[in-house]
Amino acid sequence: MKETARLIVDGKTYELPIVEGTEGERAIDISNLCRDTGFITLDPGFGNTGSCISSITYMDGVNGILRYRGIPIEQLAEHSSFIETAYLLINGDLPTAGQLSQFSARLNDHSLVHEDMRTFFEHFPHGSHPMGILASMVNALRAFYPEIPQRSEEEEIDITFARLLSKLRTLAAMSYKISTGMKVVYPSHRLSYCANFLNMMFDSPVRPYHIDDDIVHALNVFWILHADHEQNCSTSAVRLVGSARVNLYAAISAGISALWGPLHGGANQAVVEMLQEIHDSGGEVEPFIKRAKDKNDPFRLMGFGHSVYKNYDPRARIMKEMCEKVLKKLRQSDPLLEVAKKLEETALKDSYFMDNHFYPNVDFYSGIVLRAIGIPLNMFTVMFAIGRLPGWISQWKESLDDPRGRLHRPRQIYMGSNKRDYIPVSERGQ
Ligand code: ACO
Repeated sequence: MKETARLIVDGKTYELPIVEGTEGERAIDISNLCRDTGFITLDPGFGNTGSCISSITYMDGVNGILRYRGIPIEQLAEHSSFIETAYLLINGDLPTAGQLSQFSARLNDHSLVHEDMRTFFEHFPHGSHPMGILASMVNALRAFYPEIPQRSEEEEIDITFARLLSKLRTLAAMSYKISTGMKVVYPSHRLSYCANFLNMMFDSPVRPYHIDDDIVHALNVFWILHADHEQNCSTSAVRLVGSARVNLYAAISAGISALWGPLHGGANQAVVEMLQEIHDSGGEVEPFIKRAKDKNDPFRLMGFGHSVYKNYDPRARIMKEMCEKVLKKLRQSDPLLEVAKKLEETALKDSYFMDNHFYPNVDFYSGIVLRAIGIPLNMFTVMFAIGRLPGWISQWKESLDDPRGRLHRPRQIYMGSNKRDYIPVSERGQ
């Protein structure tokens, strides 16, 4: 007999099925609640709502566990490449050597962007935030690469995936070059995905960029750690917008816009701004801890806390180690790393942060890695977006293939005026 939960309302008893995930998570299935009872559920922020059944990413926020398609994030960070991880997320399994080289070749084939797209870049006002530019450019891709009716749906989808994965990286590097008035560097078929990006960002006719394998590895790890995180805000945006059956470019553009927010992906930029502020004000962390605890002060410790993790974010642990390695390799020191470590140490001794389970999240140390590599501050969230793209794509694909999938349309409880009559403007007084 299948386990059920019992709901008693208005004197009637309803049996609600219990769904159990492969890792033992349990949910009460309320799919037919409104139809059967007339009630809806109220869950602002959806913190208690499972919006889908998914086989992509498993996270356990209490124990700080994250796995893509069953494989622990620690193993992927150590052994995989970003492109292999993207393949895993999208296709469900690690590729064979042949599949991987075919996938890489396909990305290479689609790495250039239509030359006319450059005119778009040139007309954004100076100082526009790269995330706004990226969201617009990705939406514009549909106009430059319309569907070809002769192609099968499956082929069209595969090409769109390859285009997005490859071109987002090119667009990001182009936007940086154009915003700084420098010559655009084209992708090269001789370079791997991450090396290509670094080269497009930093190579110049007067100063050739030296590609360092350790930095390429660091970028692979950075993007692997960001590649998916189940039903987070931007992924939910992609699924929700995608549920209206818009084209994938439009859905990804919605994800980029959601990611931009400082409570989500924009936190990586906000963390470095906060660390800089602490550093510039003398390096004392206590006043900032005090402000974060003050209910009358809107200040939050950026890079701390998470809606699901109530333990140390496993990605933050890897990112912290990566900071040390990259700085050592580049023979750099970053005063912001010292501020970050001091802030973490002080916060983790403070009962407010411990009682509320506020630990460093992925964004806390990631900005220091990016700074060391030479990525400008306003490009930090763009770096996150490139990393999250395979997750958005795989989640979009899964939602489209889901037989239970339907147009996402949450409900509400209305608490406004009761019916009242329209009053002509002449009778409304001054
Ligand atoms: N510093 C200080 N107070 C905090 C913090 C923080 N970092 N995080 C949460 N709180 C407080 C809030 O002020 C709120 O207090 P209140 O109840 O008195 O109003 C309470 O904790 C609950 O906050 P919510 O935002 O409702 O809780 P949620 O679990 O949804 O928060 C979030 C998650 C948004 C990530 C939050 O911890 C936060 O704002 N952190 C800082 C921003 C950040 O680092 N974002 C990146 C997250 S990771 C990612 O998206 C990639």
